[in-house]
Amino acid sequence: MIKISPSILSSDYGNLSSELKRMEACGADMLHIDVMDGHFVPNITLGAPIVKCIRKSSTLPFDVHLMISDPYKYIPDFVNAGSDIITFHAEADSDIEKTIDLILASGKKAGLSVKPKTPVEAVYPYLDKLSMVLVMTVEPGFGGQSFMEDMMPKVSAVRSEIDRRGLDVDIQVDGGINKDTISIAAKAGANVFVSGNAIFSSDNAEKTIADFKVRASV
Ligand code: DX5
Ligand code: ZN
Repeated sequence: MIKISPSILSSDYGNLSSELKRMEACGADMLHIDVMDGHFVPNITLGAPIVKCIRKSSTLPFDVHLMISDPYKYIPDFVNAGSDIITFHAEADSDIEKTIDLILASGKKAGLSVKPKTPVEAVYPYLDKLSMVLVMTVEPGFGGQSFMEDMMPKVSAVRSEIDRRGLDVDIQVDGGINKDTISIAAKAGANVFVSGNAIFSSDNAEKTIADFKVRASV
């Protein structure tokens, strides 16, 4: 199923509550919340207290993307804040299996992400437990970067592996998704599309999201 997950990184942080409501009204399927710690990535965004505050502003699933060191330590905070799917990085320094197990034991869905230089095979041992694999299509840390089309073989490879094993795992792409790149990623096998800049900078977010859904139906 195709899902569009607007990244609130590009939203107006001074009016997060109304930005979330606006995205829900515009047809978003999930809300992508980028958590950066200034250590795993060179930028700082927000933490669990903010996620908890904005939880009441939307009924959409919270798709929380942890770009932090030692994600295991912070899973309980993000669970209690009301996350629905928690995605962390294979490159982070926590035990991957233990972190996934903690997310699942907390009744949440687990996602695992790879940065551009990390082979996608890093997620294969955990596919049975994952709801989502996130293939980064930019170096994590900032919005508004250009889509890396050379990540598409990774998307295709993990799609084949998921299908081969008969699993139901979403493939998310994040970074540089716009009206031109979304169909490239969809053709490669992605079905969940994060988009920050292209949605929040558009004059008509509702039209943009609807257009994305059409363009992703390949
Ligand atoms: C980057 C973040 C992305 C970012 C995408 O590290 O993980 O979610 O918001 O922004 P755009 O769509 O503008 O590339
Ligand atoms: Zn993200």
